[in-house]
Amino acid sequence: MNEPKQDRIYARERPLQDFVFDEKVADVFTDMINRSVPGYATIISMIGMLADRYCAPGSAVYDLGCSLGGAALAMTHHISHKDYQLIAVDNSAAMIERFQKTLHTQQHCGNIKLLHADLDDIEISNASVVVLNFTLQFIARERRARLIRKIYEGMQPGGILILSEKIRFDDAQLNELLIDMYHQFKQVQGYSQLEISQKRSALENVLIPETIAAHKARMQEAGFRSCDTWFQCFNFASMVAFK
Ligand SMILES: C[S@@+](CC[C@H](N)C(=O)[O-])C[C@H]1O[C@@H](n2cnc3c(N)ncnc32)[C@H](O)[C@@H]1O
Repeated sequence: MNEPKQDRIYARERPLQDFVFDEKVADVFTDMINRSVPGYATIISMIGMLADRYCAPGSAVYDLGCSLGGAALAMTHHISHKDYQLIAVDNSAAMIERFQKTLHTQQHCGNIKLLHADLDDIEISNASVVVLNFTLQFIARERRARLIRKIYEGMQPGGILILSEKIRFDDAQLNELLIDMYHQFKQVQGYSQLEISQKRSALENVLIPETIAAHKARMQEAGFRSCDTWFQCFNFASMVAFK
């Protein structure tokens, strides 16, 4: 397999613009997310394991905000039966086109259906596993509760929602510490100070993190019976909620 193309998007000084999931980002996304989310590879692999445990025969599995299909592919590789349909959705044409190309080169992915759509416009039904892997943070805060409710309503009893997010902390000292640790992690991954600070500014109005408590409250409000964190590294976490 080819090495992923290196993310150099913010390597040179550039005018400040909000971050978007366009062609340039899609081209380097595998490298970008692996070097920008501590524990990304672990989370992806564990999503596969969780999906294998909860994917019910005859049900649907959703990867919402699938990008290049990291979570969707891990799920199809781990789920031990074939009696399910995986629906992977993204509103970035650049991401969906590249994911479609990957699917042509992979075996055993016949049950993945790709949708180029906004999450507000899709229907969710008969789901045993739903994944929002670092997607909800990019959706306007006022639209989040409606989406989580729609997911809950489209799920089978006993199904799970996996929600991974960049998070913030109410305690200012803890918040600052974990952001600093995260920036140190990015430096170790080879990002320069300029890259770190330009990317941070570009994401400022686009990626809005919330506390774990806010996520839990929203999921419980939507009807989820129970939810908790199964992974955390610095200011990144993944939660699981049960219907
Ligand atoms: C950080 S990426 C997700 C990474 C991916 N889930 C993974 O595990 O590799 C966020 C994705 O969500 C998509 N997205 C953001 N808002 C969306 C919306 N309203 N509807 C559909 N997709 C959306 C973006 O286009 C982007 O590809």
